[in-house]
Amino acid sequence: MSPLSILFATAEMAPWVKTGGLGDVAAALPAALHRAGHDVRVLIPAYPAMHQAFPQATLLAELPPLAAALPAARLLAVEADGLPLILLDCPALFNRPGNPYLDPLGHDWADNGIRFGLLSRVAALLSQADFSLNSPHNWRPDVVHLNDWQTALAPAWLGNAGDAASIVTVHNIAFQGNFSASHLHALGLPEHVWRYDGVEFHGQLSFLKAGLHLATLISTVSPTYAREIQDEAFGYGLAPLLRHRTAALRGILNGVDNALWNPATDAALAAPYAANRLASKRKNKCALQIEMGLDPAVDRPLFGIISRLTEQKGLDLVLTLGEGITQLPAQLAILGSGDKVMEAGFHELAARHPGQIAFKQGFNEALAHRIEAGADSFLMPSRFEPCGLNQMYSLRYGTPPIVRATGGLADTVIDVSAATLVDKTANGFVINEATPHALWLALERASRCWHERKLWQTIQQTGMRLDFSWEHAAQQYLTLYRDAIATHH
Ligand code: ADP
Ligand code: GLC
Repeated sequence: MSPLSILFATAEMAPWVKTGGLGDVAAALPAALHRAGHDVRVLIPAYPAMHQAFPQATLLAELPPLAAALPAARLLAVEADGLPLILLDCPALFNRPGNPYLDPLGHDWADNGIRFGLLSRVAALLSQADFSLNSPHNWRPDVVHLNDWQTALAPAWLGNAGDAASIVTVHNIAFQGNFSASHLHALGLPEHVWRYDGVEFHGQLSFLKAGLHLATLISTVSPTYAREIQDEAFGYGLAPLLRHRTAALRGILNGVDNALWNPATDAALAAPYAANRLASKRKNKCALQIEMGLDPAVDRPLFGIISRLTEQKGLDLVLTLGEGITQLPAQLAILGSGDKVMEAGFHELAARHPGQIAFKQGFNEALAHRIEAGADSFLMPSRFEPCGLNQMYSLRYGTPPIVRATGGLADTVIDVSAATLVDKTANGFVINEATPHALWLALERASRCWHERKLWQTIQQTGMRLDFSWEHAAQQYLTLYRDAIATHH
């Protein structure tokens, strides 16, 4: 089949700008499509981190102000390992350090509707029939792939004959990008999209709702989450819309970047290891205990957590269990930041149990790798989890995860039971309820299994041998793109 031209629009991309899993996906999926021979270009704001990483950029286009509140901007071309990036350079909106969405006090930037309105507008512009980039040869995508609310408004400008087909992928339906109705004019949207089955949502303008209504096809990042978001309990007000568009909705599980997340080659680790060389994993546990200030205990499991600290991740359950975990006995190493109350809670818990519970506040990529390698088991009792990458990293790193049966966690982790041990699919521990008691029972179960060395090794190896390569997910996206192009024409 002929190669496709794909515009992949995103608000973050690892390793330069990353607040969570979207950054990892935006780094890995376009790269996999590029390797498969497709002409994919990534559109991303020129945050300071992008300017620093790519000081030598080529000017692609000067854009005049596209609407009342949108400043003039430039499009710059750079390449990341052969993958073309288009940087949206608008210093008034994007020349701000730190987190792409939050000001230094941790509040949303007041003009996020304008900032990501421009990103969405430019994603649409590049996809419109009457616009093409001169460089290299009147480039226009066949399909534009939009990710989360920050780019989901683009289809509100698309849909004419000759425009690209559009895909909106939901990485997290809890974040919708809802702004005051005045944004309709500020962003220069056509009047006719202000309607119930358009951009309007309870009197506001909703970026995500717009995309879910108006994109050619929509997807989310696991088959289970695709079903869950059609249910009121998970849909954050958008379940009826998703039920209405159920025929257009797919669930495609994210992958793992095997070049970055491979315990045999990971430069961040104290000692490399693999499924058939598991003994060296212990060295990583010792090194992690030292790094995090934990006692060098070898007689108890070490549980790891790497997370945004939010209600979504169910880590309040861990806080409730608190010192019970040390009495298992077990140790706990936590890396995370986010909710101030949770941060304080983990600081306090660690202070009460020095040597047994350690908390590092912040975002630290290298330490995240060392926790995946050094922990015996990984905790992820999320209330909802569109896909979740850390449980897959844990499986790759022989660190059986303890998860709640939701979203991508349900699609990747198989609970240890008599039956799954016999058929050799058991790779972790699954709870159904988001309650401290359910989590406690799972911790006990995991701890008991950990003491049975042979059994534990089997569970580790089962997870380590799974293949979550992006090549597989990329093929599913290609099918989605071709279906969207066929639907659109
Ligand atoms: P989400 O996108 O909801 O945060 P995912 O599991 O999909 O959850 O992806 C989270 C990504 O962010 C993983 O790559 C994880 O390692 C990383 N991450 C989260 N918190 C931290 C942190 N404090 N330090 C380093 N990496 C982190
Ligand atoms: C979101 C979700 C997470 C998912 C990630 C990448 O941040 O919370 O579950 O893995 O996006 O798709």
